[in-house]
Amino acid sequence: MVAPKLQEQIEELAALVRSSCYLVAFSGAGISTESGIPDFRGPQGVWTRMRPIELQEFLQDPAARREYWRRKIESWPQMRDAQPNAGHRALARLFEAGYLKTMITQNIDGLHQKAGICEEKVIELHGSNAYIACLQCGRRVEWETILPFFREHPEPSVDCPRCAECGGWLKPATISFGQAMPEEQTRAAFIEAGKADLLLTVGTSLQVHPAAGIPGETLGHGGKLAIINNQQTGLDGQAHFLLRGSAGVILTEIAERVTGSSL
Ligand code: APR
Repeated sequence: MVAPKLQEQIEELAALVRSSCYLVAFSGAGISTESGIPDFRGPQGVWTRMRPIELQEFLQDPAARREYWRRKIESWPQMRDAQPNAGHRALARLFEAGYLKTMITQNIDGLHQKAGICEEKVIELHGSNAYIACLQCGRRVEWETILPFFREHPEPSVDCPRCAECGGWLKPATISFGQAMPEEQTRAAFIEAGKADLLLTVGTSLQVHPAAGIPGETLGHGGKLAIINNQQTGLDGQAHFLLRGSAGVILTEIAERVTGSSL
C-alpha cells in the first residue's frame, strides 16, 4: 500500500514520463538491494562494515590484493546468481515501450541487462563484475578460469594471479576508488544526460563523482530531475520530484501507469 502523498507524486511523475521526449534513467546500488545485493552507504551498506581498497593499495600491497580478492570471491556467488527485481523489470518495461532511451548505471551486477534492456543501451560507469580483466593490457579472463587459482593457493603468502600475456595484475573489471573512469562510457553518459528532458535517478546516494555530476548535466540543459531513493541524497534540493521509498514499488507503480499494463 502506497501512502497518499507518494501516490500523488507517482501519478504526477508517471504523467511526465508519458509525455517525455527523451527519458534517461540513472541507477545506483539501491535498485539492487531488493535482489539481495547490499548497497554501500545505506544502513547495511558495505562501506559501513569495511573500508574500500583503493587501486594504489591493490597495486602496491600484496596483503591488500589478497583482501580485495577475498571480498570479491566471497560476494561472487551472490552477484552471479542475483536476479532482476521489480525495479529492474519496471525500467525494462519502460525501455521496451519506447519511453526509456538510455540506462546509465553505477552498478556492476548486470541486472538491467538481465531484466531486458539491451547491452548497447546500458552505460556501465563503474565497470562490470561479470569478468576479470588485466589492468595493463585489458585482456579478459572468466571467473571460472581464475577461481581454481585461489582454491589451490588459499595461503595469503601466495600473491594474486597475473595476466598470462603481459604479466599485469588481474582484477575484476570494476572501477575501484583511485582508478580512472572508462572514458567512452563516461562521455556517453554525460551526453545522454544532457539530451534528457527527464532524468530518473534511482537508488543512488549521489555522493560519488564524476557520476554524481550526471543529474547536473540534465538540469544544466533545462531537463527535469526525479529522485527515487529511500534516504536523503546529495541532490534532493535540486529535484523536481523527490519520491522517498522502495525503488521496486515506486518504479512498478510508475511503469504500470505509463504503459497501462500490470507488470
Ligand atoms: N529502494 C530505494 N532506495 C534504496 C533501496 C531501495 N530498495 N535500497 C537502498 N536504497 C538507497 C540507500 O538508502 C542509499 O541512499 O540507495 C542508496 C544507495 O547509495 P550508495 O550505497 O551510496 O550506492 P551508490 O550511490 O550506487 O554508490 C555510488 O560508490 O562505492 C562506490 O562504486 C561504488 O557505484 C558505487 C558508488
